[in-house]
Amino acid sequence: MAHHHLVLIIMMVLSAMGGCSGDTESFIFGGCSQVKFMPGTAYENSVNTLLTSLINSATFTNYNNNTLQPTPSSSSATLYGLYQCRGDLSNDRCSRCVERAVSQLGTLCLDACGGALQLEGCFVKYDNVSFLGVEDKTAVMKKCGPSIGLTSDAMARRDDVLANLEASDNTYRKSGSGNVLAVAQCTGDLSPSECQDCVSTAIQRLKMECGASTWGDMYLAKCYARYSEGGSYSRNTNDDSNHNDDEIEKTLAILIGLIAGVALIIVFLSFLSKVCEKHKGGK
Ligand SMILES: *[C@@H]1O[C@H](CO)[C@@H](O)[C@H](O)[C@H]1NC(C)=O
Ligand SMILES: *[C@@H]1O[C@H](CO)[C@@H](O)[C@H](O)[C@H]1NC(C)=O
Repeated sequence: MAHHHLVLIIMMVLSAMGGCSGDTESFIFGGCSQVKFMPGTAYENSVNTLLTSLINSATFTNYNNNTLQPTPSSSSATLYGLYQCRGDLSNDRCSRCVERAVSQLGTLCLDACGGALQLEGCFVKYDNVSFLGVEDKTAVMKKCGPSIGLTSDAMARRDDVLANLEASDNTYRKSGSGNVLAVAQCTGDLSPSECQDCVSTAIQRLKMECGASTWGDMYLAKCYARYSEGGSYSRNTNDDSNHNDDEIEKTLAILIGLIAGVALIIVFLSFLSKVCEKHKGGK
């Protein structure tokens, strides 16, 4: 009986830890091409080779691309792939994120000729249609927080922060004022001017479509811009997985509190009984 409880607690601790590292690994969006390849063909080998090369590369750099030429012995198409980690991630976190993204791509886009997946901390894409170095401002995912959120003051601050973001000229941009924070990230295959154009578009759309929301996320195909008032970005994605992590953390906190409480009572009681025994023995 007690054994079962222990196993349950260990599992909950593990999943709560998963929730912590899930900060950079929580899911944002994913999409797959309609066209599928035949399993067990050269195409599948190429996809696996390409994605593995991306994972390996992520252990030492935040961005890379790869192009796999078809081998003469196979009829497989040319395959293109890239990954982009958020600019502030260490190599260690970047590679863990890319590994996670590739593994989720394998499930989400099973046998799909192309696929793309964005986690909180990284983006991975592969396809047999070339997309490397091609600017693409297609809106992929938009999310806005509660629309009555910002006061006019906060909104002015938000606009300032976004203007700073736009004025910066890196592939990864971060800006903040007061409790308003914003980040933008381009994929590394864009030229500086393409990145600038992409980020500007994302910011314009953020302001237009999220209005006075307390937070907003605008993901275009090759860049994104996000802002939030008074909180971390990861907490702002109101999807179920984060919710579950929160729930697990709460439950865990309550459980640990309970266990600690019970343990304290037991220690106290045994201490009391020892004191009592000594007392009796002493008499
Ligand atoms: C990509 O692969 C699919 C399936 O093998 C094929 O139908 C399609 O023509 C390929 N596209 C290119 C650009 O090679
Ligand atoms: C692709 O990667 C190679 C080698 O890392 C690099 O030289 C090239 O500029 C990259 N191309 C793009 C479009 O990012």
